[in-house]
Amino acid sequence: MKSLYSKFLMATLFIMITSSFIGFFIANAYYQNNLKPENDTKNTEIARRIAQYAETQENLDQYLKHTASTGYQLYVVDRQGESHSFGGSFNEKNLPSQTVVNVLNGNIYHGMRDFPKKTFVTGFFANELRNSVGVPFTHDNTQYALFMRPNIKLLFNEIHILLGWMGLAIFILSLIAVLIWAAMIIRPVRQLSQATNKVGENGFDIHLDIHRKDEIGQLAQNFKDMISRLGELDKLRRTFVSNVSHDIQTPLLNIQGYSRLLESNMLSEDDRYTYLKVIQEEANRMSTLSKQLLTLSSLEPKGNTLRKESFEVSRQLRSLIHRFHWLVNENNLSLTYSFEDVWVKGNPELLNTVWENLLTNAIKYNKPGGSIDITLKEAHDHIEITFTDRGIGLGTKEKKQIFDRFYRADLARTKQGTGLGLSIVKEVIELHGGQISVNSRLEKGTTFKIFLPHL
Ligand SMILES: Nc1ncnc2c1ncn2[C@@H]1O[C@H](COP(=O)(O)OP(=O)(O)OP(=O)(O)O)[C@@H](O)[C@H]1O
Ligand SMILES: [Mg+2]
Repeated sequence: MKSLYSKFLMATLFIMITSSFIGFFIANAYYQNNLKPENDTKNTEIARRIAQYAETQENLDQYLKHTASTGYQLYVVDRQGESHSFGGSFNEKNLPSQTVVNVLNGNIYHGMRDFPKKTFVTGFFANELRNSVGVPFTHDNTQYALFMRPNIKLLFNEIHILLGWMGLAIFILSLIAVLIWAAMIIRPVRQLSQATNKVGENGFDIHLDIHRKDEIGQLAQNFKDMISRLGELDKLRRTFVSNVSHDIQTPLLNIQGYSRLLESNMLSEDDRYTYLKVIQEEANRMSTLSKQLLTLSSLEPKGNTLRKESFEVSRQLRSLIHRFHWLVNENNLSLTYSFEDVWVKGNPELLNTVWENLLTNAIKYNKPGGSIDITLKEAHDHIEITFTDRGIGLGTKEKKQIFDRFYRADLARTKQGTGLGLSIVKEVIELHGGQISVNSRLEKGTTFKIFLPHL
């Protein structure tokens, strides 16, 4: 696998080289289309002036030598073909003889403008006689043709070394800068990758020292948040497992203990009956617990998997009251209710568990002679169900915890229960897009209010 670092380096080199080429081609196009004609016009004008002055000079040789020394290459030829070069000779004297005749006849030669368009800016530097401008002039009644181009060689010698060094410096500096920058970017990514490895080994207690404002900083922050959430979930999971184990262990111990006692032949009929009752109750407790746990795990993968159907919730509540009538009577309680005929879209089995949990709570945490009232009302966009009892009630602190898994208030411990009922109620209601709230006063009673979205 190529590391991000080397990929980054390759990409940078590729970009640098391609952009140099593209830049060079653009410069070439600019030279061919703009600079070349401009240069030609400028140099033709200079050549014309040199020729003009030459006509008035006494010593032509000296004048041309002097002019050439200011940075030009000159080539002078007369009708007899006698030629002289000033300011260094041309590398190639490839001027067609017809061109010389044309200039001697009074025409101007635009060799720079018409120099063949080859790739790169070679025309600019080609030290050829062809690559010059030619103008005619007369001196001492002799006709001459003067061909001229700036002595670019000298100029270029200095410039090209400078340009070379400059290019090299830019290349090395940008490469170093890219390396440092890439290292700065890669470092936190490596830290993150090490941190992810540690999650498996060291649990969720991970310190990540990345404080940046860019995407990598954001990624690190998200990672920290995720780890802390996972840590909390892991803690919840551990508490849950230890609670479940404890709630299974206690009834099992009781069953073991009492069944051993039952082995004795010396037991009175009354004791035997009491022990059997305990064993039955503990077995019931375990059965309820496993039922509750099954319901909880069926709710676990939250989402759209919930099977919903339309059903008459008022009917379901009436059947609930019918089923629990004996328990209400046994506890010496009175029960009143008022139901509007309401339909709801939801999962009937799960909602039935909700009503059962709320009614058994209202019975369990009531007082002898107490009352229970259940209502079902239809509002504009939701339905509202209340379970009110005049039972033992809840303190402010306890009220906040009753929906937590396994939580049981102190006063409730005399009654049987697992502490899972209300956490299931809350999850089911929320899965249906509803809400549940509780209003309670110690020793006065409790009201649970449920809002469910309409059909
Ligand atoms: N109507 C109520 N009045 C007073 N306290 C209540 C009432 N309903 C619930 N509680 C308190 O909230 C706690 C949690 O209730 P929850 O139904 O979750 O568990 P549980 O009834 O103890 O056990 P189970 O899982 O068998 O229902 C109860 O132990 C009790 O302390
Ligand atoms: Mg309960």
